[in-house]
Amino acid sequence: MMIVALSYARWFEAIERRKSRRSFEQRHIDQADNKRLKELCNGFSPYPDVRAVFRTDSPDEVFKGAIGHYGMIKGAPAFIAFIGDRKSLYVNERIGYLGEGIILEATSLGLDTCWVGGFFRPEVAANLVGTYRGERVLAVTPVGYAKNNISLEERIMTGFGRTHRRKPLSDLVSGLDESKWPTWIQKSLEAARLAPSAVNRQPWRFEVAEQSITVSVDNQKDKYGISKRLDCGIAMLHIELGAMISGVSGKWEFLVPPKVARFIINPNIVGGVMMGQVKQLL
Ligand SMILES: Cc1cc2nc3c(=O)[nH]c(=O)nc-3n(C[C@H](O)[C@H](O)[C@H](O)COP(=O)(O)O)c2cc1C
Repeated sequence: MMIVALSYARWFEAIERRKSRRSFEQRHIDQADNKRLKELCNGFSPYPDVRAVFRTDSPDEVFKGAIGHYGMIKGAPAFIAFIGDRKSLYVNERIGYLGEGIILEATSLGLDTCWVGGFFRPEVAANLVGTYRGERVLAVTPVGYAKNNISLEERIMTGFGRTHRRKPLSDLVSGLDESKWPTWIQKSLEAARLAPSAVNRQPWRFEVAEQSITVSVDNQKDKYGISKRLDCGIAMLHIELGAMISGVSGKWEFLVPPKVARFIINPNIVGGVMMGQVKQLL
């Protein structure tokens, strides 16, 4: 296994800074950042049934076919494809978890991104990155430097700011009373609340116990053909980062729908090691 150095502190800090951007300057990404993203895609491998491929090709063709302004993504010099095993039961939440780590790394390098799970052409992306039998490109992100001025499309897309709004925790959380939450729970839930989701639907619900947080989806309805479990996978990474930043480590147990997964802390370990890979803290 390749050893890749990760910094969960940098990822945690990037959570608040990350915003979806859709209109890019046609400027190439610095060599060092290209190298870093390539290494990360090869080396950050928390689960065997999902992977990411970074390509320095224009993804404009991948994004054609948008409906209205949603998914109108233009001008990026590079993209990342998130690829999963079609047969895996947990593929969506794992893609969310894996992809968000890479997106937060890109954010911390000063690059802009946008999760795209619906309005793209999986077969065009698959041809560009190369996939094996049984695999499917489940999501992609453009990578590059966003134009400074937010384009009209982007402003329409974001409802002039509306899509950045998040639900209050009181609408999302059940279980242990807030007055009894240890720091790691507070930090993890606040980080999870800020996660991006398709059409900003924020489908995650959190059940809190003294040593665990269980993530579920709000309901099984899905108007957009993008799995809510993928959104929840993104929130899962944020939960884990919140715990790690608080000096707590734990592990994920995957659950059956409508539940997604439960993060159970290990009270005997101080400081975290992220699941499934060897890691050196920066
Ligand atoms: C799984 C997923 C799929 C998404 N799909 C698209 C998409 O197809 N097109 C698009 O323009 N934005 C897409 N988005 C971006 C969301 O609209 C955006 O994350 C959300 O409105 C919150 O805004 P923010 O990312 O700026 O915080 C997607 C986001 C996620 C997490």
